[in-house]
Amino acid sequence: QFPNSVKIVEVGPRDGLQNEKTLIDADDKLRLIDMLANSGLSYVESGSFVSPKWVPQMATSSEIFDKLNKVSGVTYAALTPNMKGFEAAMAVNVDEVAIFGAASESFSQKNINCSIDESLARFAPIMVAAKGKGIKVRGYVSCVVGCPYEGDIAPQAVASVAKKLLDMGCYEISLGDTIGVGTPASVSAMLDAVLAVVPAEKLAVHFHDTYGQALTNIYTALSKGIRVIDSAVAGLGGCPYAKGASGNVATEDVVYMLNGIGIESGVNFDKLLEAGWFISDKLNRAPISKVSQAMRAK
Ligand code: HMG
Ligand code: MG
Repeated sequence: QFPNSVKIVEVGPRDGLQNEKTLIDADDKLRLIDMLANSGLSYVESGSFVSPKWVPQMATSSEIFDKLNKVSGVTYAALTPNMKGFEAAMAVNVDEVAIFGAASESFSQKNINCSIDESLARFAPIMVAAKGKGIKVRGYVSCVVGCPYEGDIAPQAVASVAKKLLDMGCYEISLGDTIGVGTPASVSAMLDAVLAVVPAEKLAVHFHDTYGQALTNIYTALSKGIRVIDSAVAGLGGCPYAKGASGNVATEDVVYMLNGIGIESGVNFDKLLEAGWFISDKLNRAPISKVSQAMRAK
């Protein structure tokens, strides 16, 4: 039984751009974020407060949030790995933050320079501070199917971290197939393990399209009652700490599929396509979205 509607979490300006080598200036990022918000997307992850030495593209995040023209009804969110990041986010009035852990020890070390347990300890004060300020916190789990350093990840390892993030107070847990290796079989096994400890209403799926499996994996998640989908306009991105990871599934492709099935997303398709071409032009390439390319060719 499919849901009547889903929420799309647009991660292009963050997850997408963070791995693009071409540095995009703040004004172009602001324009992109504006186009996305005006296309009807209700959640735009617009930056991250991490070390600029680790992720140079995100160094503009304070400026972005400072200058944002907020569209009412849209949540503008950012990643915060520690209290330093959380405080920087609060200084520029970020609406909502996300903490990000992993189901793989090696990936946790490479991505945020600490073990999974240490990462949860660093997140704990963020949860307390966020609660005090009435700020909602989303939790990510990376490498939910495979890890670039460890290979296959056990579904139980994912369920365990997801449950811990939920128990810490995250209102939603986004399950990330960071390197896009999942198929409906492995994704199904992983989701079943997580659904045994976290209800579907608290879950989101976050697929990268490295092996071209993202849409079919989203379909699998929808059939299990999950109603929040992360995607990036124009299929931007990858992950700086996962070699070979390609972009997130393209928002255009997701919306096309949802429209076909008859699931409401609230997105104006034409405006979304325009946003994808805008940022792709800045990157000197066409959008990595089959739907977008097919629509242009018509
Ligand atoms: P660390 O080196 O362990 O931290 O890095 P530290 O506390 O020892 O500090 C080292 C330096 O970083 C210091 O500066 C700090 O001030 C600075 P220095 O004295 O050397 O000049 N620093 C910061 N600067 C700005 N903002 C901060 C901050 N914290 C410390 N918040 C840290 C730990 C987490 C900071 C680092 O490892 C880092 O920034 N990592 C980047 C992680 C990242 O952004 N990864 C990509 C996002 S995750 C992802 O894409 C996956 C996801 O999409 C889901 C999926 O696809 O699966 C979410
Ligand atoms: Mg990602």
